[in-house]
Amino acid sequence: MRLLLLGGSGFVGRAVADLAVARGHDVTALNRGHRPAPAGVRTLLGDRTRTLDALAGLDFDAVVDTWSAAPSVVRDAARALSGHAGHYTYVSSRSVYDGTGPIPLTEDNPVVDGDPDAGPTTYAADKRGGELAADTFDGPVLHARAGLILGPYEDIGRLPWWLNRLHRGGPTHAPGPADLPLQYIDARDLAAFILDAAARALTGPYNLVGPTGQTTMGELLTVANHTTGDHADLRWLDPEPILAAGIQPWTDLPIWLPPGDDHDHLHRGDVSKALNAGLTLRPLADTIADTWTWLGSLDGPPPHRTDRPAVGLDPALERKVLDLT
Ligand SMILES: NC(=O)c1ccc[n+]([C@@H]2O[C@H](COP(=O)([O-])OP(=O)(O)OC[C@H]3O[C@@H](n4cnc5c(N)ncnc54)[C@H](OP(=O)(O)O)[C@@H]3O)[C@@H](O)[C@H]2O)c1
Repeated sequence: MRLLLLGGSGFVGRAVADLAVARGHDVTALNRGHRPAPAGVRTLLGDRTRTLDALAGLDFDAVVDTWSAAPSVVRDAARALSGHAGHYTYVSSRSVYDGTGPIPLTEDNPVVDGDPDAGPTTYAADKRGGELAADTFDGPVLHARAGLILGPYEDIGRLPWWLNRLHRGGPTHAPGPADLPLQYIDARDLAAFILDAAARALTGPYNLVGPTGQTTMGELLTVANHTTGDHADLRWLDPEPILAAGIQPWTDLPIWLPPGDDHDHLHRGDVSKALNAGLTLRPLADTIADTWTWLGSLDGPPPHRTDRPAVGLDPALERKVLDLT
């Protein structure tokens, strides 16, 4: 497959690049060259918000687009590649759902409004606008509606923060309940689904995470603690004292959301459509071990996207809520 990655050198795009190269595809990436290119990838340099000239005269079997800001940037690429590519995957998000509709949430749940011609607004509107912009491509289009994505090269810092915190050890805030279900996808499993879907020219939206109950907060922290040396003494807390202390779910405590509407929408999704289409998922222990190995290979702190908030709990606040000060 002649594959074009619009992006391809960060987290998800890199996972697609690495797998595509390993599968023997002919892989081209278009980006500004701010990060090292994955091995085996031909990089075309260009700022896609300004020009797509680097793509002139090139044809591809499939395109994977990871853009997450102005929908108009996706629209321009989808138009430029019309007639020059066989399939277009837009890496979208389950954030496009508007929070209404039945749980478990399926691909038919209501979505927020989006404008394919818009500049950047909110993350949800940008992702929905990006889907509509991708639909202007004149061939089959897939909306890969990923949920929480984990794995090596994560540049949001969620699992990296937990791994480093657990490795630091001592009494460690563990947000409960321990049996709280979590849904996530390893970026490499997302990559495999995307490449397989492109080869089969699948179209339309797919919710892409593991099934509800795939794991729990308890299993995640226990396995992560074990992987990082069993240094942490996990102190499980109920949601009420955590929220009363002003701790922000999701950002102060990455991955965690208390039971309720937000948790239902993020961690109780229906993924039967993707599973029936062949989505496969590696064990949690592999995702954690490989992410820890990757972190250990870095010279400095893990990468962090500047357009996303920093995550992690202030140590002083953690001591306070654990009653250690
Ligand atoms: N993290 C999650 O849990 C989560 C959940 C659901 C959905 N998602 C979605 O998953 C996707 C993650 O993608 P990713 O960031 O990991 O993709 P990526 O393709 O690995 O990295 C982003 C790429 O965009 C390139 N880029 C940035 N600005 C550019 C510009 N102006 N012109 C050309 N290239 C540019 C970057 O290279 P240069 O900087 O060198 O240009 C980089 O190669 C996003 O769409 C996000 O919305 C994430």
